[in-house]
Amino acid sequence: MYGDGPAASPGAGEVTVGEGFLLVVRWLHLLAAVVWVGGSIFYLIVLRPAARAEGAEGEAVQRRARQEFRAAVDTAILVLVLTGAVLAFDRLTTPRIGAVYVGVLAAKVALSLWMFFLAHSRLRGSRPPMAEAASSVGPAPWWACAGRALAWTNLVAVLGVVVFVLSDLLRALFEQTLRQGG
Ligand code: HEM
Repeated sequence: MYGDGPAASPGAGEVTVGEGFLLVVRWLHLLAAVVWVGGSIFYLIVLRPAARAEGAEGEAVQRRARQEFRAAVDTAILVLVLTGAVLAFDRLTTPRIGAVYVGVLAAKVALSLWMFFLAHSRLRGSRPPMAEAASSVGPAPWWACAGRALAWTNLVAVLGVVVFVLSDLLRALFEQTLRQGG
């Protein structure tokens, strides 16, 4: 398949079918992550302040934008889970993969699950946690504020940035494993 050499292995610069498949999977994973985290950051630092400055009209635009973004987020989550499972399987079946790699991956998956939960939580909102949690009978208790804060839209963006860092760390750890093994 890769020329008529005795081992039939790919030559320098050639890519096997498996490697090509993983490249596409990795690209889809990265694309979905960029759409979700990039879109959340855009919403927080560009769209939301701009919409707020426009008063009631801006509020409606903001609500509409959140609705539209939801479909993109649902697709991104599906792609991230499917491609993440393939990438994790590939990494974890590599010989000499270390406990540190497995630990960092577990932390990343835990944070990802938290992000997925937040994305689907009905507690999602664009108002500050204290305002959301306050009731008509008085100021909100601290635990209600904390609960709201954990489910706050901003948290998805913050967690997303942390997950990006962990993903870079995973890559560095994996490359180190390859160097040691090679
Ligand atoms: C079920 C959830 C997930 C699993 C199992 C998973 C798994 C993985 C694995 C195994 C890698 C390869 C790391 C390496 O190079 O050794 C990876 C890369 C990556 N992941 Fe995830 N991931 C998940 C969710 C997410 C989420 C939610 C984000 C972002 C919001 C994300 C962003 C990334 C990025 C940016 C990379 C680096 C891609 C590249 O360098 O080409 N992942 N992921």
